Amino acid sequence: MKIATVLGTRPEIIKMAPILDEIEKRGIDSVLIHTGQHYDKEMSDNFFKDLELSTPDYNIQVESSSHGKQTGLMMKGIEEVILDEKPDIVLVQGDTNAVLAGAVVAGKLHIAVGHVEAGLRSFDLTMPEEINRKIADITTQMYFVPTEKSAINLLAEDFPRDKIIETGNTVVDACFRHLEIAEKRPIEEDSLRELDIENMDNILTLTMHRAENTDDESRLRGIIAALKELTEMNIIFPIHPRTKKTLKNLGLWDGFNGLDHIHIIKPVGYLDFLLLMSKSTLILTDSGGLQEEAVTLSVPVLTLRYNTERPETVDVGGNILVGADTDVILENARKILTDEEFANNMKNAINPYGDGTAAIKTVDAIEDFYKRGLLNIKAPEEVATSFVRKIEAIDTDITVKEFEDKNKAVVHLVYDGEAMVFPNDELNLNGKMITYDKYQ
Ligand code: UD1
Ligand code: UDP
Repeated sequence: MKIATVLGTRPEIIKMAPILDEIEKRGIDSVLIHTGQHYDKEMSDNFFKDLELSTPDYNIQVESSSHGKQTGLMMKGIEEVILDEKPDIVLVQGDTNAVLAGAVVAGKLHIAVGHVEAGLRSFDLTMPEEINRKIADITTQMYFVPTEKSAINLLAEDFPRDKIIETGNTVVDACFRHLEIAEKRPIEEDSLRELDIENMDNILTLTMHRAENTDDESRLRGIIAALKELTEMNIIFPIHPRTKKTLKNLGLWDGFNGLDHIHIIKPVGYLDFLLLMSKSTLILTDSGGLQEEAVTLSVPVLTLRYNTERPETVDVGGNILVGADTDVILENARKILTDEEFANNMKNAINPYGDGTAAIKTVDAIEDFYKRGLLNIKAPEEVATSFVRKIEAIDTDITVKEFEDKNKAVVHLVYDGEAMVFPNDELNLNGKMITYDKYQ
């Protein structure tokens, strides 16, 4: 079996690292394709070093441009590599342009796509990431979902349950493993050493790079106004190159001069960043990964967005959506700082993203699908059977698997009272309302 992995940005490198390690540990043939979307040393190479990953076999070097051009260049480059390498499966991660490019190209070549961190939905199509996720899922053969909620999102869009595998999120694997390493070594980043973060109180770690904030001046101004007022915190802001560019273009960069409580620094390496997050009183961010890492590290997080595709973090109480509203940001940040009970409730939120075994579960499932021939995509050889979609209230003890075998059916959605639940093979359907497809 040969696995090709496509990645291109900082979070993809971090979240694919545990899977790449697992693939290597098992001696599976592997090809690593970097799209080159992130190319600064601080956005790419440093993560290969910190995570001890091998250099990619290919770098397509698309660098920065418009969505269409960047994605088109990725498609061309990925297609050439895939045609040459003939992998059995192409893995993509998350919601960047690499996910869209890799999934569409592989799908059209009839090569199985494995989407790591599938099923997330913000239900906001103004986000480029939401478009990428949804399109990628059309050609995907294996959906590695972090939570039951993401599995249900896919079922609701009609994707089949037998291709959905709940693994947890590899961010937890990476976090657990690397925080331990980070805690045992001296801080590498000069800026963080100079700030002496180990002896600093009231740290607020800030990251911001989302298009909906950086491309919207009034939102940016709303966030900056809150930062300026939060003088009781030490704000450490490893700035994404996109945000730095925008602040300079809008003439907002100089507005930070003379503000002793705000420390704008270059993006930092993963190990130092984990340490910084773990020492923080509060994380303020519009990043997807940071929302997950915050609940994993038990640090309260305020998200600078009006929606999130990580609603689990809000449901468990670890994350509050504050948008770009100055007053809402200030009120919540100050409450975390001064109201111990409020802060503790956020810290004690139970991590919904698994126990750090997502990579093992992902590679186990790939090996299983490969052995069962499920990665071979062939045009249909039999005349299609028709089906009818039915709804039924079940009032006997019967598992999903037993129901499907008995009725020549595929269970679709299952409602337990008002809540939807994921139909695992062993789920007892007694007392539940189900929809299912019955084949003729
Ligand atoms: C991309 C992803 C986003 C993800 C983020 C992670 C898409 C559509 N967006 O956004 O989902 O959350 O990565 O960080 O795939 N730049 C540099 N050096 C670099 C990379 C970027 O200077 O190494 C600057 C360029 O000015 C570029 C801008 O950042 O125009 C934006 O980069 P781009 O890769 O287009 O999107 P991100 O905002 O990084
Ligand atoms: N990160 C890092 N150094 C930084 C900022 C972020 O190592 O200076 C890591 C962070 O731990 C997380 C990932 O980068 O794992 C998140 O990337 P980003 O916010 O760019 O992307 P998103 O998750 O929003 O797609």
